[in-house]
Amino acid sequence: MTTNDTRRPDVKKLDPYAFFALLGKRVIHPGGRRSTDQIMELGKFSPGQRVLDVGCGVATTAIGLAQRFDVSVTAVDISPLMLARAERNVRRAGVSDRVTVSHGDIVDLPFADGAFDCVIAEAVTMFVDRERAARELVRVTRPGGWVLATEFLWRRPPSPAAREAFLGQVCPGMLFDTQEDWERIYGGAGLSELEYRSGPFEMMTVRGFLADEGVVGATRFMARGLSRASYVRKLAWTVPRVARAVPYLGYLVVAGRRPHEAVPTALAPAAQPATI
Ligand SMILES: C[S@@+](CC[C@H](N)C(=O)[O-])C[C@H]1O[C@@H](n2cnc3c(N)ncnc32)[C@H](O)[C@@H]1O
Repeated sequence: MTTNDTRRPDVKKLDPYAFFALLGKRVIHPGGRRSTDQIMELGKFSPGQRVLDVGCGVATTAIGLAQRFDVSVTAVDISPLMLARAERNVRRAGVSDRVTVSHGDIVDLPFADGAFDCVIAEAVTMFVDRERAARELVRVTRPGGWVLATEFLWRRPPSPAAREAFLGQVCPGMLFDTQEDWERIYGGAGLSELEYRSGPFEMMTVRGFLADEGVVGATRFMARGLSRASYVRKLAWTVPRVARAVPYLGYLVVAGRRPHEAVPTALAPAAQPATI
């Protein structure tokens, strides 16, 4: 996709998240600002840390982390449209010295093992091979560092119509199920000290939308949404399908630590003889 394409993309082909970003939505994950606040609390950030935000979207969390904790953030995404908006938002927020935006695929991150103190992925792994993505998040985290992820889940078993509307039509190919599923995936990727927070999916409820975007942001979003026939058509198709799934949907924040490397016995310091 060229730069021009990122400004005037073919709306019909956009996934719902890219479409929301095009209309100016800033927070594009199921737990909204509430789950991002939980990530900020669980991550135990301190100034100067190296943080990676994978699938950064329009860089709202990356900018927030830099402003709030004075950490240095690398924000990567696979979508040219998201990257263009992320770069613009970082520039406008005046944090270009602390947030770097670049291309990166969650299943093949262009970083060395242990390159970051903390790695975040909000609503990204379910688009790809989830086990592989979780292992990759752990790989680029330093031993003793934290991995923090927000995931979708079904809070209660969805009706067949709700499941089909969300996973079959709105987000075809996306894969998620229950909390136990995510516990298995992140535990299996090697994280320890796992902690969870969960709550309802409010991104597309009136209350959640206003909490995430504010009255001005929500009004701008609606104005943009009504500014072209193609946007109106896409909203009219997407919103009722998402609404069908909302009562069953929720979010899960997963926080876990990459264990410190075990010291091989041969390299471990010799036991000191007891002094008498
Ligand atoms: C639901 S949006 C979340 C955006 C952002 N994390 C947020 O919470 O606002 C999913 C994001 O993941 C990105 N994405 C999808 N597949 C990806 C991949 N393989 N590697 C990196 N990013 C990916 C999308 O482009 C999109 O920006």
